[in-house]
Amino acid sequence: MKIDGTAYRTIWLGDDGASVVIIDQTRLPHRLETVTLRTADDAARAILTMQVRGAPLIGATAAYGLALALQADASDGALAHAIDHLARQRPTAVNLKWALEEVRRHVQPLPTAARAAAAFAKAHAIAEDDVETCRNIGVHGAALVQAIAEKKRPGEPVNILTHCNAGWLACVDWGTATSPIYHAHDAGVPVHVWVDETRPRNQGAALTAYELGRHGVPHTLIVDNAGGHLMQHGEVDLCIVGTDRVAANGDVANKIGTYLKALAAHDNGVPFYVALPFSTIDWTLDHGRDIPIEERGADEVLVMQGRLADGSVVPVEIAAPGSPAANPAFDVTPARLVTGFITERGIAAASRDGLYSLYPERRETAA
Ligand code: MRU
Repeated sequence: MKIDGTAYRTIWLGDDGASVVIIDQTRLPHRLETVTLRTADDAARAILTMQVRGAPLIGATAAYGLALALQADASDGALAHAIDHLARQRPTAVNLKWALEEVRRHVQPLPTAARAAAAFAKAHAIAEDDVETCRNIGVHGAALVQAIAEKKRPGEPVNILTHCNAGWLACVDWGTATSPIYHAHDAGVPVHVWVDETRPRNQGAALTAYELGRHGVPHTLIVDNAGGHLMQHGEVDLCIVGTDRVAANGDVANKIGTYLKALAAHDNGVPFYVALPFSTIDWTLDHGRDIPIEERGADEVLVMQGRLADGSVVPVEIAAPGSPAANPAFDVTPARLVTGFITERGIAAASRDGLYSLYPERRETAA
């Protein structure tokens, strides 16, 4: 998508063909900076410190990270070690393991001399596929937005609430939850987005508001607790969020606070959609309760980062000194609260049968 008229992606191959460049998301929205990853450790650190984040982008970065590892040592031992190391960086987004497994399957049968180049090619293919997948999510989701717009007065915007950042910054391009918004907006459908700030790391304020604003999409930042009130007052037509892992029964893990939005949407009759690529479905898990939930550091709750009037970006303590803090990073929304899934193959009910209707080949595998 565009930042002030220039098209960007979140990750790309360096000019030397042997390194990988990312947008450093810990610097946004105050600074647009890139970082070059030269080793698997660089990639692992970028995932852990959330220079890259968002399920599909974590997957793409891990795939490139494996290629960087094989560039240094393509032996079976090094391959296994790099997969294990990269996979351990963040536990909830299943795209991480999915992408590593895709690269492993592609390179393991090859002679060691051919593995690094093949891994780079596979990582590139994963990134390109993600762009196409997210584009298609947008096409299907935009039809939903358009249908709501047709029931409104001409020119009246469709109000969409989203949580966290499931935008192009969380993917390679387009985003999952934001792709329908970009497609609708670019097609001239009036949209307005309520952006949850998404404590504690404020991905909504720092990333979603940034990318929507830079692309010219009307939006308003709200505190996390405002969504229920807005829904009660008819100010939200539709919720669209992303996800880090969907269990085979349709339960959805996403950024902490998503569950509360789904409850409020259910109580107020607001459609609540989850946008996802196929790589976010964990067919091995029967229930959302089995999804591992990342517990992050208390410092993210106790300390916030912001820009001062002099332009410097500084951390500030916001809690009573000495108070302990807990920081579960994701929650699970039961499938019964989800109106539907928006995927690259179309829209379906949030249920095992709904998923099978989109991915019938999985029903055959499971049988
Ligand atoms: O902790 P993060 O920033 O990686 O969490 C991101 C989210 O929860 C997104 O909603 C999810 O990964 C979907 S990204 C298309």
